[in-house]
Order: sequence, then structure tokens, then C-alpha cells
Amino acid sequence: MSRRSLVVGNWKMHGSRPANAALLDGILQARPFTCDVAVCVPFPYLSETAVTLAGSDLRWGAQDCSVHEQGAYTGEVSAGMLAEFGCRYVIVGHSERRALHAESDQQVADKAKAALAKGVTPIVCVGETLAQREAGQTEAVVKRQLSAVIHTLTHCAGEMVVAYEPVWAIGTGLSATPEQAQAVHALLRAQLRAATPHADGMKILYGGSVKPDNASVLFSMPDIDGGLIGGAALKAADFVSICRAARL
Ligand code: PGA
Repeated sequence: MSRRSLVVGNWKMHGSRPANAALLDGILQARPFTCDVAVCVPFPYLSETAVTLAGSDLRWGAQDCSVHEQGAYTGEVSAGMLAEFGCRYVIVGHSERRALHAESDQQVADKAKAALAKGVTPIVCVGETLAQREAGQTEAVVKRQLSAVIHTLTHCAGEMVVAYEPVWAIGTGLSATPEQAQAVHALLRAQLRAATPHADGMKILYGGSVKPDNASVLFSMPDIDGGLIGGAALKAADFVSICRAARL
């Protein structure tokens, strides 16, 4: 089954208004792309990003959302607010949030559900640490993380995007090999198949030190449907060349 690839830039807590304008302009100038392309930006930049990208086929999104719809949750941003700014995607369960904000599997699942309820597609991140990989726990860890989301989304599980991001590969320059990544993607696909009839049409992205020089070999693997790109998403030329590496 052919799946249209998706490449998403995760800007993390980087950017400034002038830098963003230059970056977005560089991406806009490079169109058309053969894959879907999105940028997930810090909350304060959503409004400007939406204005800049409106009318183009580029998509935008955020990097987190609340499990709640509204209320006394200082500092939180709801999925409904993201939808108001035209967000197509929201990253949930990034390993930095799991580690630094102690997000549990169930909280991540609840965020995914809150996003879908507002028409925003969650990009659900799963991935093992180096210690877990070395202890032979990779499969158990990613299955546990995905299972919480599948059980919470029930019949809507087919609407999420999954991102496999081994924690040891994020920001380290040490990407998983295409074979290592494909092996985990195949496991995740099998788990999705058992849960939803839409599994073969779902996108499973790889993230973790994707660069212009390793993108095409990673993206050529059968179950890798694009990437979630951190550091290399901050330079237009690098991000564009990664988008060009995506298979049709
Ligand atoms: P990286 O980050 O590309 O800088 O490794 C990926 C991510 O954290 O989403």
C-alpha cells in the first residue's frame, strides 16, 4: 500500500521572528514538494506562521497540547486553541516532554485524544532510551507506549500519525540505522494492524538525527513514511533537502 510521505520540522524551543521569517521563506521558495511538509513551531509563533503559510500547501502545528479543554491550567494550551490557529498537527509525547515533564503514557494518550476531538492530528512519539535498548527492552517499551494511545483512541486510532524516535538518536548525531528503524516500524505497524483496519494507510515517521545525508536511505525503508526532524529543520537548505529525499 502506498502512503504519501510526511516530513515534519520540530523547531523545539528555537527561533525568533526574523529567523522564522527567513526559514519559512526558504521552505516556501523551494516548493513544490512531492511529500506533505509541516512545521511544528513554538506557541507564540503560531499566528505569524499561519499567516505566512496560508494559501500554500505547507502545514503547521504545535509541539504539545493540554489534556483539558479549558480551565484553570496556567501555562497550558488547549487543542481547541491550536485548531483556531489552523494547526493541522500537534506533537504529543515527545521524549523531551516525557523525560523533562514526567508525562505518562496515559497523559500522552489523553493529549492525542484531546487533539483529535478538535480535528488536530496528533503526532504520537514513542521510543526507547539507550539503557532500554541495551537491556533488550525496545519492543516492550514502544509497544507499551503505543498501546496506551490505541486503547484511549479506540476506533479513532487510525487517525493518528506515529513517530518512532529512539531517545539515544535525538540530537546526538547518532541516527538509528535504516535496518534498526525499519525493524521497530514494522513492529509498530503490526501492532496498529491488530487495532485498526486503517493501519496500512497510517504514517509512521522516523525521528532522531535525520540529516540531508542519511534521509533518503532511511526513507527508502518500506515502513518509514517520512520523518520528524529536529536540528536539521532549522536550516531551510537542510530541511528542504530532507523533504526532497522523501519517497512518493
Ligand atoms: P533531531 O531531533 O533531529 O535533532 O535528532 C528530532 C526530534 O527530537 O524530534
